[in-house]
Amino acid sequence: MNAHTALDPVKHFKSVAWTSTDRAQVYDRTTNSTSDLTHFLTTEFIGLLHQRIAPKSAVLDLGCGTGVLTKALAELGHDVTGVDISQAMLDKIDTGIGPGRITLRQGDVYALPLADASVDGVITRWVIPHFRDWAGIVREAARVLRPGGTMVIDHTSRANYALASREAVLDTATFGYDPRVHGSEPGYFYAATTVDELQLVADGAALDLLDVAPLGFFRQNAVIAAVLGAEGFQSYKKAVDAFYQDPGARAFIQWFERHVTRALPLDMVNGMAVVLRKRG
Ligand SMILES: C[S@@+](CC[C@H](N)C(=O)[O-])C[C@H]1O[C@@H](n2cnc3c(N)ncnc32)[C@H](O)[C@@H]1O
Repeated sequence: MNAHTALDPVKHFKSVAWTSTDRAQVYDRTTNSTSDLTHFLTTEFIGLLHQRIAPKSAVLDLGCGTGVLTKALAELGHDVTGVDISQAMLDKIDTGIGPGRITLRQGDVYALPLADASVDGVITRWVIPHFRDWAGIVREAARVLRPGGTMVIDHTSRANYALASREAVLDTATFGYDPRVHGSEPGYFYAATTVDELQLVADGAALDLLDVAPLGFFRQNAVIAAVLGAEGFQSYKKAVDAFYQDPGARAFIQWFERHVTRALPLDMVNGMAVVLRKRG
């Protein structure tokens, strides 16, 4: 534990949470489905980067875990460097998947083992909101991004929590995560943000904020959780997963997520896909 982690119980918790081989095994088993709604949303998310970078770009997957994004981007032809603090997670990645090359590095998202301006694109999923100082991760990622390069990050919408909290107190038992800095157990913490905050962080890292896209209305939505309560929300998520297996329902959900969710205000959706470009 370095001095910074010692002072921040959330960062310490999150940095060791995925380091055991058991955890990596379970994570790998539960995140590789290609037939669920999460897979569809992940593909949409990856598309936001893929459509903005040249073929065979050098891409960094920050906190790559077991490589869901790393592998998908290599399959799209990009040369991907996956960085993660957990060697157990990295060990799950088959680096032979191509045609793009996969390079894996064990390292900290706050001190990346990469040179300045060395990649064309950065992507990261389910990492940045785990940390209170998520802005520090964005700044470090911006350091390794070349001028004109694209960064795609995920985040969660504070406005969605605020709207949900009009209906009920949204605790961790109901939603699974808690965006409050005070009064939250380190393991449950998941940051939330606003467009204004994103703009400030982007400015501080010499990035242009190109797009903040709501992502995933049906999946993890605080308003739905507040309306249904803890048990109801668990049943709802299982029902959506089952519903999604029906081809007609799947087509409807995909259409809704791609076209309607995109147009909703940020208080109606919890997930956000944020697109940034390095200035210069
Ligand atoms: C929820 S997983 C997400 C993995 C992957 N991005 C995905 O989409 O499946 C969070 C990952 O962040 C990694 N992580 C946590 N703290 C980190 C740190 N300080 N530096 C680098 N990686 C870290 C964990 O080891 C874990 O693999």
